[in-house]
Amino acid sequence: MRNPTTPVTDALYEYILAHTVREDHLLDALLRETRNLPNAHWAATPEQVAFLTMLVRLTQARRILEIGTFTGYAPLAMALAQPDDGTIVTCDIAAGWSEMGLHYWRDAKVERQIERRIGRSHDIVRQLLAEGHMGTFDLIYLDADKAEYGNFIAAAEALLVPGGLLVADDVFWNGRVVDDGDPDPKTAGVREFNARIFEDLRFDLAMVPIANGMTLARKK
Ligand SMILES: C[S@@+](CC[C@H](N)C(=O)[O-])C[C@H]1O[C@@H](n2cnc3c(N)ncnc32)[C@H](O)[C@@H]1O
Repeated sequence: MRNPTTPVTDALYEYILAHTVREDHLLDALLRETRNLPNAHWAATPEQVAFLTMLVRLTQARRILEIGTFTGYAPLAMALAQPDDGTIVTCDIAAGWSEMGLHYWRDAKVERQIERRIGRSHDIVRQLLAEGHMGTFDLIYLDADKAEYGNFIAAAEALLVPGGLLVADDVFWNGRVVDDGDPDPKTAGVREFNARIFEDLRFDLAMVPIANGMTLARKK
């Protein structure tokens, strides 16, 4: 089939940024500081954050779970978009990265909205289930532990409310998902996720060609 998606050239990318990403002092400052890190590319891109912000507002997501905090850029954006009584649980295997986000969360007055948990995503998910948080999250942003992506679907289904949204980042994995010769376990994990979620009729599905690809899976 002919690919009808307009290729995003550098010029078109600049155009997208110029026409969707509005200035936000704290988000911009946190992203600038994040960009000094060698692994700055881990952070969500500004147009993804605009998209996440829209999803949070559209779904009115009160309870959000983020897998993979990094410097706290996406949780800052999502917290700002939540209703007043919103809360976010965000987890990361490393404690260090998210320290950067803390004072931005504080300045944005969303610090108390965001609960940071440190540990492996699968342990945190097990903790949440053991604490009785089944069927309580309105939105889950999956953005870590690619090798285990496929294994996360069952937990997401258990943790989401009916109608809740799973947003999975990096589903193109730099295009490597279509390279059958790529033996990397992370590529295999993302491929596994894409295959399993497609087969899983408990979710409505859309795959969005933004940044490295994002899948929206709505629990029916
Ligand atoms: C792509 S970054 C997250 C970016 C962030 N969501 C954002 O949008 O700015 C992925 C993060 O996941 C963390 N991570 C990697 N493996 C993990 C695991 N098994 N459990 C929890 N966190 C993990 C890394 O330390 C890294 O900070």
